[in-house]
Amino acid sequence: MTRNAAVGIALEDAAPAEAPFELDLDLVPTVRLCPNAPSEEFRTLRTRLEQLRATRVLQTVLIASPSAGDGKSFTAANLALAEAQLADNPTLLCDFDLRTPALHSVFGIDRSPGISDYLLGKADLHEAMRRIEDGHLCVMPAGQAVINPLELLHLKQVRRLMDRLRNAFRSILLDSPGLLKASDANLLSALADGTLLVTRMGATTTDSMRHAIESLGPDSILGMVANGIPGGTRSLARR
Ligand SMILES: Nc1ncnc2c1ncn2[C@@H]1O[C@H](COP(=O)(O)OP(=O)(O)O)[C@@H](O)[C@H]1O
Ligand SMILES: [Mg+2]
Repeated sequence: MTRNAAVGIALEDAAPAEAPFELDLDLVPTVRLCPNAPSEEFRTLRTRLEQLRATRVLQTVLIASPSAGDGKSFTAANLALAEAQLADNPTLLCDFDLRTPALHSVFGIDRSPGISDYLLGKADLHEAMRRIEDGHLCVMPAGQAVINPLELLHLKQVRRLMDRLRNAFRSILLDSPGLLKASDANLLSALADGTLLVTRMGATTTDSMRHAIESLGPDSILGMVANGIPGGTRSLARR
């Protein structure tokens, strides 16, 4: 028996650590986009997150909801635009809904190269992002469709990717598929510092919300976003 085996060290983890990711914006493909300014509600949501950041590390935030169509991608895109408006706040929006990605359409960019291509070693990190011109926002689209998104998210490369991104961005938002459809968002919540749970007023049932909260674990939930209420989307910080 080797010493490593005797003390229970997993030998496959002994791969050399990747060099920290040094973001070079000149290497990130740039897209010209004149997005509408995010509405007041998303600036308020950003302010709530900033207030929470005064008390805890909140660099990576997962945007989750029970079902498709609740408004996760809408919330993630608008919140990312609002975050990137802050001075000295390089922001990255990642489309981790590898099943039905939407952010490439929202921003009018190619879906690939993106996250899956990077994880499968087919693109480097700079290639897998797009920088929104003149801003502090970068978007990582989902990448090429994969048959087994959940297996891809289980790879150690995902955690390494998040570590590298944390070196380069102050704020990282993760879009995700519905919690009741697949367990992708549960895996992603373990990589995030907290989760914002989106509800679609008039569509999300109490039952599906209860399941979503139970599956995430209440402690990981930062607050809820009530999407689609008359007069605008509202954010309700939990603590
Ligand atoms: N508050 C809103 N106001 C206007 N359109 C919205 C709003 N929330 C969501 N939508 C639209 O509803 C559709 C579904 O939202 P989306 O964010 O893609 O849901 P999810 O990512 O949860 O599947 C999209 O076309 C999106 O633009
Ligand atoms: Mg979506």
